[in-house]
Amino acid sequence: MKVLITGGAGYIGSHTIIEMIETGEFSPICVDSCERSTPETIDRIEQITGVRVPFYKLNICNKDALFRIFEEHKDIVGIIHFAAYKCVPESVEKPLEYYRNNLQSLENVLEACLKYKIPNLIFSSSCSIYGEVDKLPVNEDTPMGAPFCPYAHTKQIGEEMIRFFAQVNPKFNAVILRYFNPVGAHKSGLNGELSPDKPNNLMPIITQVAIGKMKQLTVFGTDYDTRDGSCIRDYVHVSDIADAHIKALQFLTEKKNISNCEVFNLGSGNGVSVLEMLHAFEEITGVKLNYVLGDRRAGDIPAVYSDSSCAERLLHWSCQYGIADMVASAWKWEQNLKLE
Ligand code: NAD
Ligand code: WQD
Repeated sequence: MKVLITGGAGYIGSHTIIEMIETGEFSPICVDSCERSTPETIDRIEQITGVRVPFYKLNICNKDALFRIFEEHKDIVGIIHFAAYKCVPESVEKPLEYYRNNLQSLENVLEACLKYKIPNLIFSSSCSIYGEVDKLPVNEDTPMGAPFCPYAHTKQIGEEMIRFFAQVNPKFNAVILRYFNPVGAHKSGLNGELSPDKPNNLMPIITQVAIGKMKQLTVFGTDYDTRDGSCIRDYVHVSDIADAHIKALQFLTEKKNISNCEVFNLGSGNGVSVLEMLHAFEEITGVKLNYVLGDRRAGDIPAVYSDSSCAERLLHWSCQYGIADMVASAWKWEQNLKLE
C-alpha cells in the first residue's frame, strides 16, 4: 500500500519511513523541499534499510507540483503529512511565513485527498496546542489553550481545518497525532535530528555542548514550582513516535476508527525535568556537561506531560524506549555526525 510522506526527509518523517520499510506493510513515497533537511537523508534511510525510497524534491505549497505525484501514483492509499516549519521563536519573528507554509501545504494536501480520493490522512500536531494547562496529565479532552505563538496557532488551525473537512467528506478518515517532546535518534546512530546551527530544543543543545559545538548550556529557570525547580516535559523517543504512525495507518486501513477524525496524544506519560535530563545524559554517556543555572525563558510553561492511554487502548501503541535509549541514541548520532 503506497503512502505519501510529506516532510519525509525531516527528523520524524525519516524515522517513520525507516519503521515503515521495516514493517513491510506500506510502501513509502517521500516528498520534501529539503528547505529544513537534506536529500542525503534518503541515502541514510537506504543505508539503514537497504531500500531506496522514491523521492520528490519539491515544495508542496506548489499545488500543481504536489498533484503531479498523485497523477504518477494513482494507487496511493494514504498521506502522512509532516511537512511544516516547527521552530517556536522563528514563528514569532516570521508569523506570515509560518501561516503560509504550514496552512497552504495542508490545504493542498486536503485538496489532493478530495481530488484523488485518498481515504486516509495522518497529521502531525503538537502538544503546543494545549498551551498553559490547569490539570496534568493532559488528555485529548483537554481544551486547546490560547495560542502562545504562530507555530502553535498553525497546528490549532490545521486540526480545525481537518475536522471541518472530515465533517463534509464521510469517506475521508484522519488521525491527528499530538506529539509531546520527540528526542533521540535511530538505534544505529546513522539517522537523527539535523538541527540548525543554533538549536532551540534541549536535546540537540545537550549533545552539541557535549561534543564541543556549543560552549555552554543554560538551564532556563530553576524557580518553577516543580520537584527541582526546572521545567518538566514529556520526552518520547522518535522511533516510538514513528511506530505510532504505522499503527495509526493500520487503524485507518483496517477501518477501526469510530469517527472519521480521531485525535491521539503521543507521549511517554512521564514528566522529566531539565536537570534530571542533564544528569541522565551525564550518567549514561559519562560526559560532563558545561551548564549554568539561568533565568526563565519567555513563554515556557512549568510542566506538561501526556495521558496517552487513548493511543495505548485504540492504537495498541506504547513506548518501547526510555530516557536511557533517547540519550544514548542522540549521543551516538551526534558522534557519528562529527566523523562525517
Ligand atoms: P523537520 O523540520 O525535521 O521536518 C519537516 C520537513 O518538512 C523538513 O524536511 C522540511 O524541509 C519539510 N518541509 C517544510 N515545509 C515544506 C513544504 N512546504 N514542502 C515540502 N517540504 C516541506 O521537523 P520534524 O521534527 O520532523 O517535524 C515533523 C512534523 O512534526 C512537523 O509538522 C512539526 O510541526 C511536527 N512536530 C514536531 C515536533 C518536534 O519536536 N520535532 C513536536 C510536535 C510536532
Ligand atoms: C524543553 C525544556 C526549556 C533549551 C518545543 C515546542 C513544542 C514542541 C516541542 C513542536 C524547556 C528547557 C531548553 C535550553 C533549557 N515542538 N531548555 N535550556 O519548549 O518543551 O517544546 O518543542 O511542536 O511545540 O514548543 O521544548 O526542547 O525547547 O525545551 O533549559 O537551552 O528544556 O526551558 O523546559 P519545548 P524544548
